[in-house]
Amino acid sequence: MAAPTNRPATTTDAGIPVESDEHSLTVGPGGPILLQDAYLIEQMAQFNRERIPERQPHAKGSGAFGRFEVTGDVSQYTKAALFQPGAKTEMVARFSTVAGERGSPDTWRDPRGFALKFYTSQGNYDMVGNNTPVFFIKDPMKFQHFIRSQKRRADNNLRDHDMQWDFWTLSPESAHQVTWLMGDRGIPRSWRHMNGYTSHTYMWVNEKGQQFWVKYHFKTDQGIECFTQHEGDQMAAADTDYHTRDLFEHIAAGDYPSWTLYVQIMPYEDAKTYRFNPFDLTKVWPHGDYPLIEVGRMTLDRNPTDNHAEIEQAAFQPNNLVPGIGPSPDRMLLGRLFSYADAHRARIGVNYQQLPVNAPVVPLQSYSKDGVMAYRKVTDPVYAPNSKGGPAADSETHSPPTWQADGDITRAAYVSHAEDDDWTQPGTLVREVMDESARDRLVDNVVGHLLNGVTEPVLERAFEYWKNIDPTVGKRIEDGVRSKQAEKDPKAHEQANPARSSMQQKA
Ligand code: NDP
Ligand code: HEM
Repeated sequence: MAAPTNRPATTTDAGIPVESDEHSLTVGPGGPILLQDAYLIEQMAQFNRERIPERQPHAKGSGAFGRFEVTGDVSQYTKAALFQPGAKTEMVARFSTVAGERGSPDTWRDPRGFALKFYTSQGNYDMVGNNTPVFFIKDPMKFQHFIRSQKRRADNNLRDHDMQWDFWTLSPESAHQVTWLMGDRGIPRSWRHMNGYTSHTYMWVNEKGQQFWVKYHFKTDQGIECFTQHEGDQMAAADTDYHTRDLFEHIAAGDYPSWTLYVQIMPYEDAKTYRFNPFDLTKVWPHGDYPLIEVGRMTLDRNPTDNHAEIEQAAFQPNNLVPGIGPSPDRMLLGRLFSYADAHRARIGVNYQQLPVNAPVVPLQSYSKDGVMAYRKVTDPVYAPNSKGGPAADSETHSPPTWQADGDITRAAYVSHAEDDDWTQPGTLVREVMDESARDRLVDNVVGHLLNGVTEPVLERAFEYWKNIDPTVGKRIEDGVRSKQAEKDPKAHEQANPARSSMQQKA
């Protein structure tokens, strides 16, 4: 069939026009297909290789492009070009859930990823945060175990609240993040209606070389809105991709979401004596101690046109830090500086940074060369040091931010600061930030979650965990679970309950 004159002719991947989009090449209409139908073979072979492995955590997500515009003046704290007064920087954002697979519902109760890549004049700067200001653990040694406890069992391949609470109750440092997660903000109404945080403390360095500790808060300009558990469950059934659709449709309609970036700044010397360990990822810095300072606004105004090329292959890595921004002694952050680039090499391929969505807008003067799918041309000299005019590193102008570290090599917990413990800050969240109705919903959410397959002795430990956070809320959770169990089976709480129905595995 001839191509309609107003449409471009289909070609092979080599650009050669093809004869048909519909019929394979056969020996007569009823005869066999010929091996020489290279176009058919190209279609089948390419199709079989369309999927790349999904991200290990944060597999389900989507994103958009936009820009970051500086509205405040934080030049006294950082020399980073993207944060200088008046600067505008192009960027890409990806939002995600953590535990679910690529096809999982957007409205499951889970933290949301808040990953940003800024194409700055000093190279790419990635801020790979979450919609929560804290995290479940504080040492990277536990991360893999934590994620496995949130994903699927070995035997039935089902998610399992019993292993989630087993891990959490044996890891009391999780209490702050778990309280946050079980509260109203555990299911955002949309990605547009949630905040984003670095969660970690980073270092900022100004032109004079002065150092500061910093935490970022991207506050939604759409306002915080959340789903209740019931609404989240309903939406998971009605529209698995609700958050993906919401973001895409609002941007397509010209209703561009934006976030205002604020920072908390801690003078370098305060870190030693601050009442909480400022590098402990399970703690916030109360706003009363370090108030928010406005920096600028991020606006998302362009949808991807090819989700695979621009979002699925986007590779965010916390080690992409530009001059003026550095890491801190937060162990989780230091672990992440390795983990992400390693994940990208495994998932996408060693030359993932050559893909347009990951490539910087500045000229590359790197010595990396070759490898699978390399298409950036390298030129001689291919080694350093050289006397042939190749790039030379400049330690004078590009010395990395540092801090003092000493002591014996050891495996030990952080040094505790005056008010460090696992229960105080989640207790403040429950008692001082949540109101009575928010506490009611928190209790309901936890009771529902615990009744969903959690067995003894994990259940008993969960009651203790909540009583440590807040005695009243803990008692209400225990009473709620025990009374529901008694309604169902008067002897239930006296026995272990290894059998869990398929309904109970629902996350
Ligand atoms: P503030 O009263 O100054 O701030 C309370 C914070 O809690 C605000 O950031 C608010 O976010 C946030 N918040 C409100 N409702 C909820 C909820 N249901 N779940 C989670 N966060 C919520 O308090 P402090 O700074 O003194 O901190 C008190 C407690 O607030 C902390 O222990 C921590 O649990 C929580 N919190 C603190 C943050 C911080 O960086 N200091 C950040 C987020 C939570 P918003 O202003 O966007 O509405
Ligand atoms: C994704 C590791 C903690 C936010 C990932 C991925 C890995 C990983 C391997 C998949 C990357 C990919 O394939 O593209 C780790 C390790 C951690 C850790 C080892 C702790 C030691 C955190 C914390 C946050 C976070 C504390 C938030 C503050 C994210 C986000 C993504 C992600 C947002 C998805 C990025 C995207 O959209 O592509 N993490 N993570 N992670 N992680 Fe972590």
